[in-house]
Amino acid sequence: MTDLRLLSALLLVGLAPATALAQQRDSLPPGVTPQMVAQGEQLFKGPGLCTACHGPDGKGIPNLGPDLTDKQWLHSKGTYQDIVKQIMEGVPANKSTTGLVMPPKGGSALTDEQVKAVAAYVWKLSHGSK
Ligand code: HEC
Repeated sequence: MTDLRLLSALLLVGLAPATALAQQRDSLPPGVTPQMVAQGEQLFKGPGLCTACHGPDGKGIPNLGPDLTDKQWLHSKGTYQDIVKQIMEGVPANKSTTGLVMPPKGGSALTDEQVKAVAAYVWKLSHGSK
């Protein structure tokens, strides 16, 4: 009996760090669901028009739009809330690091809900294991 308890205690100790790591890797910001990330990808690559300047995989296009998959954020700390706000407002010429402008919502007709989904995808681009 004692042996068994010791064994399970040891097992728990051994497994805990692995579980914590997996959770950390997969966890999304509060309010963000995997469905939003999936929907956001469709919008990013479709009606959101984002790929026109940020490239088909969000890695950026020279002289059009910056890489969104790296950990370097030009205009914010890159939190989920930051990204939502950024997409809503775009980047006016006087704030752009390159003089290139991003219109609000990328010039697309996305609804505010859709912007939240696109932001979930953009967040995942730079934080995810994908
Ligand atoms: C007309 C081209 C264009 C389109 C379309 C566009 N962007 Fe941008 N985006 C830019 C430019 C230009 C910047 C700012 C570059 C700079 O400051 O040097 C930018 C910046 C950003 C940033 C901030 C990056 C950072 O490092 O802080 C995010 C996030 C972003 N865009 C997301 C999107 C999303 C999502 C869409 C689609 C809804 C989109 N963009 C559509 C051109 C575009």
